Amino acid sequence: MSTCPFHPFSTEYLADPYPTFAAVREESPAFYSDELDMWVVTRYRDAAMVMSDTELFSALNSQDPLLPFCPEAGEVLAQGFGYTPVMTNLDPPEHARIRRHNMTAFSTRRVAGLEPVIREITTSLLDDMLSEERFDWVAGVAYPLPINVIFELVGFPSEDADMVKGWGGDRLTIMFGHPDESEQLRVAKNMASLWQYCSEHVQRRKVDRADDFTSALLDIRDADHDAITETEITSVVMGLGIAGHETTTNLLANAMRLLLEHVDQWTEICADPSLIANTVEEALRFDSSVNAWRRLARTDVGLGEGVVIPEGAKVLVLLGSGNRDTAEFDDPDRFDIHRERARRHLSFGKGIHYCLGAPLARLEARVAFEEVTRRAPDLRLADQQLDYPPIISFRGPRQLWLTRNQENAP
Ligand code: HEM
Repeated sequence: MSTCPFHPFSTEYLADPYPTFAAVREESPAFYSDELDMWVVTRYRDAAMVMSDTELFSALNSQDPLLPFCPEAGEVLAQGFGYTPVMTNLDPPEHARIRRHNMTAFSTRRVAGLEPVIREITTSLLDDMLSEERFDWVAGVAYPLPINVIFELVGFPSEDADMVKGWGGDRLTIMFGHPDESEQLRVAKNMASLWQYCSEHVQRRKVDRADDFTSALLDIRDADHDAITETEITSVVMGLGIAGHETTTNLLANAMRLLLEHVDQWTEICADPSLIANTVEEALRFDSSVNAWRRLARTDVGLGEGVVIPEGAKVLVLLGSGNRDTAEFDDPDRFDIHRERARRHLSFGKGIHYCLGAPLARLEARVAFEEVTRRAPDLRLADQQLDYPPIISFRGPRQLWLTRNQENAP
């Protein structure tokens, strides 16, 4: 047990987990948290090892609900939720089969082909947002951009975006939060609706192909029925419908907050957009949109200093803490868009599960900041109190209010 307080649902932690990360990292490589019934890994080197060593750690629990479902919610899911583990919560050798086919469908060509779409969506969102005097960056761009892009990628009709986002957001609460029973039931019903929606989409694409990710997976299945099942395709599509936007929304929001808190660096990227790619890496390192991930210990694992994670233990890997480890990064509490090798951050994970969507997330963030710095170099943070959702893995403010400082416009 750590002598440092670790209360991941407290208001203080949700607002700013970094003082806690520093204290627990300093004290020990890992500790047991009563509140979560998990072993918590604090340092960069161990975090990278736990994430990537598939002999010592399984990924099967990475999408499990944090708390068991109440019986009523469990019943709703048993009846209406056909999801099967794919990729992030699958171990070798099955993981490799699904990942291989997903890489084919999620090709570099398909991602690169999205750039004009991303630019067009960003421009149109900025037109609307910047017509106001005071605006929320999350509602204006950070939320709608990734969801519209993921819809384009998987082929969902864009008019369904709000409905689908609502169902998916709920799922995060149950996987990474601690909802009460009535909320669990509501979430379970939404998860069943999301599953139904994704199944219908896959059925539609079986007879009416398009140039999208879902059709590409179905083509792979047509060529070889053992390659991937229909249930697996539906599960992958459903997973992307969630992983593909929530995380990127938070990246866009965290990066904007950091840049406007360090206005000198914002001004630099406005003057020289070639700095944006490394700025995105530094934002991912400094305040990651995914600051913790899960694993399961297959055996007793010693981490040094006498700390042993016992076989069967559930493990929470503090990626955000690893990203601020002085053993890995010089002066890690300094946000610096010029940082060399900022890309070593752990925010996309490590090893065989390394985020499949990383190239897309990077592309979206680069294009969004290229467009917004060009159009509105006079953006500033408005006075506000930031509010973060009570979930242990995903981090980003619900709203980020901005204004324009016309006097300082070049
Ligand atoms: C800033 C944005 C994002 C962050 C911070 C992020 C982070 C992560 C992390 C931490 C993992 C787990 C890695 C591991 O277990 O070692 C992961 C896996 C994954 N992510 Fe992302 N992600 C982001 C965006 C996306 C996008 C845009 C997509 C898809 C369109 C996506 C799809 C996936 C998939 C499919 C996996 C599972 C890969 C596997 O298990 O082989 N992610 N991501």
